[in-house]
This record gives sequence, C-alpha cells and structure tokens, in this order.
Amino acid sequence: MLVARAVFPETIAFLEQHFEVEHNQADAAWSKQDLIARLQGKVGAFTTGTERIDAEVLAACPQLKVCANMAVGYNNFDLPAMTARKVLGTNTPDVLTETTADFGFALLMATARRVTESEHYLRAGKWTKWSYDMFAGAEVHGSTLGILGMGRIGQGIAKRGAHGFGMNVIYHNRSRLSPALEAECKARYVSKEELLKTADHLVLVLPYSAESHHTIAAKEIALMKPTATLVNIARGGIVDDAALAQALRDRKIAAAGLDVFEGEPKVHPELLAVPNVVLTPHIASATVPTRKAMARLAADNLVGFLVNGKPLTPLNPEVLN
Ligand code: GLV
Ligand code: GLV
Repeated sequence: MLVARAVFPETIAFLEQHFEVEHNQADAAWSKQDLIARLQGKVGAFTTGTERIDAEVLAACPQLKVCANMAVGYNNFDLPAMTARKVLGTNTPDVLTETTADFGFALLMATARRVTESEHYLRAGKWTKWSYDMFAGAEVHGSTLGILGMGRIGQGIAKRGAHGFGMNVIYHNRSRLSPALEAECKARYVSKEELLKTADHLVLVLPYSAESHHTIAAKEIALMKPTATLVNIARGGIVDDAALAQALRDRKIAAAGLDVFEGEPKVHPELLAVPNVVLTPHIASATVPTRKAMARLAADNLVGFLVNGKPLTPLNPEVLN
C-alpha cells in the first residue's frame, strides 16, 4: 500500500493494521516518475486530488488494483484508463457535503460583503474615518442565488440560501432534480443563459471534465449582471481565470470568490492584482472532522475492497465483476 501524501497519523495506523504501508508523511513533492517508482509492487494507493493516475502510470504499475482518492472530485483519475486496466477508483462523497456547502456560503458572503478586501484596508492602516459608502457591497438576503451544478453540495448551498437567507434560488444542471428535491431546495430550474443573466450571486459546483472546461469564459461573464458575484468552489479550469481577471478589472462583474484555480497552487497573476476577488487555497472541505471523515472513508475503501471485496464508494464498479 502506498499513501502518496501526508495524512493523519491515525489513517496510517489504521491502514497498517491491514497492509504493509509506505507513506509520505514528510509530504515530499513527487514527480510522476517518483510516483511510478513508489508504486512498484503496490496493489493499492491512497491518493489525493494532486496525484494524476493516467494511462502512463497504469501501464508502468500493472500490479495496481485500487486507488482511493481522499476527495469527492476525481478528475486526477483517468477513469476510462483505470477501468480498461481493471483498476478500481473510489472517492469520498457525502462526508464533505455540508462542510463544503458551508464554505461555499462563506465565500459567497465574503465576496458580496467585501470581507477580505476591507480587512486588507484596515490592516494596511488605511482606515482613518467612517464613510457612507465605504466597502458597500451587494445584498445577500433576498437576492437571487444561481447554482451551476446541482449535486449534493449544490443542493446544500441552495437550502442554506433559500431557508436561511430568503434567497430566490435558481439552478442549472445537466439533469433536472426531481420535483420533491426542487421543493426541498426551493430551487427553480432554468437554462444556463437565464441563470447567467439573472443570478445576483452565481456559485459553481459542477465536476471538472473535458466538457466543463471553461464553462465560464468571457462570453458567459458578458451575460452576467455588472453587479453580480461569481463563486467557484468546484475545480480550477471550469472558469477561464484570465478572462475572469480581465472582467474583474473592467468591472464587468462586481466581484468573485475563488477556492480553486487553473494550474493551482499557482494563481493567475492578474487575479492576485485585482482587489475585488476573495482567494482561498482549496480549503472548502477543510474542517478537522470532515478531513478525518474523508481520510477514513478513503482508507475504508482500500480495506473494504482489498480485504473484503466490497469498496464503499466505487467510481467504476464495473471492474468488480
Ligand atoms: C476537493 O476538492 C474534493 O474534491 O474533495
Ligand atoms: C459532487 O459530487 C457533489 O456532491 O455535489
């Protein structure tokens, strides 16, 4: 068993009850060749969203049977290539839903109410007097919340907005929710174009794939209200960061809140230069209980599959047959 990144010591201890474990508690940065070298002879790998498991890695590690990702997103897996080689992939759905929805809302509020921008102003010693329009932002309660990607996390954000803040919730998704779920979330299905045009706050919660690459680029931003805010807690690459930075600079939209970036941990230099953006380092699921639950679920998937033949949350269950 290879644990590719540093994790909770208890996760290593749990895995050691079942397997011989090689870990990376020093959290050394491994190249793809390093990863391949460490994976030699291993049947299982505990991965995070930062290790790419692709055809090259799979071809070089023919004994590999399972990769358990400590993340709900799994765009670091080439799942068709894994399935072709009968390598199981697992992720960590459900355990992070509410925590991640909380953070989506935190970012929405920080963005709308200019929390970090005003803090930087205060810390820089620029606050010398009160003034009537200082850091006046956008309204949250009673505004229109748009959600692009209505999975479990999107639904959690919808409920927070509708029930907690009296927001009018609209959403777009590849498939429409059932009427019962729409009622529970108080969310109305609209086209992507209507979503872009009418949302006061647009939150992106869709998975990254080749089809969702640059779902929000200059053309889409141009449809948004000049007063609107955009929040991305999904994945880098869903937004064209260069186009967004330009739009923020030109005030085509009011502000953005970003937890994920194209090419992270690098951040587009123009996003770092504009004031009207809240930037966080991919921490939407980062609470201690939730990160422990994610690590445990990933480890349980490895034990479940390799010891009992039953993974808990398989992504490609067809390899089990
Ligand atoms: C984090 O980004 C995750 O996919 O869990
Ligand atoms: C994604 O998997 C979600 O839970 O929204």
